[in-house]
Amino acid sequence: MNDVATAEAYPAIRARHLWHRYGNKEVLHDVAFDVHQGEIFGFIGPNGAGKTTTIRIMATLLEPMAGRVEIDGIDVTMEPEQVRKLVGYMPDHAGVYERITVREYLEFFADAYRVPSLGVVGAVLELTDIGNLQDQLVVTLSKGQKQRLGLARILLHDPKVLILDEPASDLDPRARIEIRDLLLDLQSLGKTILLSSHILSELSDVCTSVGIIEQGRMIVAGPINEISDRLAAQQAAQAHGHEPAPQDGVAQWQAPPGFAPGAAAGTAPVQAIVPVPPPGPPQPQRQGLKLRVLGDPGAAAYSIQGGPGILDVQVVGPVVQVGYIGGDDKVAQIVSHLVSRNIGVVGVEQERNELERIFLEATRHSASQRAKP
Ligand SMILES: Nc1ncnc2c1ncn2[C@@H]1O[C@H](COP(=O)(O)OP(=O)(O)OP(=O)(O)O)[C@@H](O)[C@H]1O
Ligand SMILES: [Mg+2]
Repeated sequence: MNDVATAEAYPAIRARHLWHRYGNKEVLHDVAFDVHQGEIFGFIGPNGAGKTTTIRIMATLLEPMAGRVEIDGIDVTMEPEQVRKLVGYMPDHAGVYERITVREYLEFFADAYRVPSLGVVGAVLELTDIGNLQDQLVVTLSKGQKQRLGLARILLHDPKVLILDEPASDLDPRARIEIRDLLLDLQSLGKTILLSSHILSELSDVCTSVGIIEQGRMIVAGPINEISDRLAAQQAAQAHGHEPAPQDGVAQWQAPPGFAPGAAAGTAPVQAIVPVPPPGPPQPQRQGLKLRVLGDPGAAAYSIQGGPGILDVQVVGPVVQVGYIGGDDKVAQIVSHLVSRNIGVVGVEQERNELERIFLEATRHSASQRAKP
């Protein structure tokens, strides 16, 4: 458990055994996860995976058919009014009233939330860096500015937990970076943030924990460093022929009657927070490196390809990306190998996309299932 988790009385968000259907279509299948206080949790999944459905449950707008969500220890179904005070929810396609000014818009919502608009509106304008736009009509704002206004609105009542459904979709790169920086500022103010996306790179810079959902099933969830460690431990256990231990808090549960087609009522398989990898030899830990060289990167790639400990080599624009097994000594070997071939190395950067690695590892099993006829 991490430091944040041990210090907290309750997780900021705790979801357990969520099931939901629209008509005959099962949309959530035993979804469970925790978001610890102070985390930025990236909720990742392809279109239609069930992110918005889960988010609407957390935001008290949809009652799940089974299971429960607690925000800061308070049950969303039993005490929705209390939960709404704790949560700032930004939907995926929020409309805004356009024919009023930015300040009027925020004052309107401050009144609706019964917070004293004097002072608070100024504070959120400053926090979201749209103070210079306060007298502009909302209709004249760019998408990025409207998104900041949306964030300003949900901050008015000073919620502890922010739930943002695809806050960066449709934004240009600069606006995305600005939103990302704003989220980090909000985290430093003590907010817990859950944001959904189907774009990994959007989340990899900010998230401290993730949940990956596919077809209504949470296939992996938790702090990124814990998931990495668990995946590594699981791979080691596989190598020694041991089964991984069940996860805390989510293992001993049985499906409600009528759910889990194909399983007898009450005997559905338990949710595994980390997927069980298919049997096979243990996967060595791949490391990644980005190299910039003088001259033709293709020649450099050719020279490295197939060397000891080299897993894969790709040329991406001017960069040579190398997957390898080993530590710093291997990096030094690669560089000196290139130099010995008269290829000047002008940049060496360790690839640190832990999230991407987790995602590929976690979805490996479901991807292979999909590939089956
Ligand atoms: N009101 C509804 N009535 C019927 N089906 C719905 C409804 N809302 C969502 N669905 C279906 O439920 C599934 C999950 O939808 P959801 O909106 O939760 O996915 P999502 O992960 O948010 O996807 P996206 O990335 O496209 O926003 C989809 O198959 C969707 O078609
Ligand atoms: Mg959605």
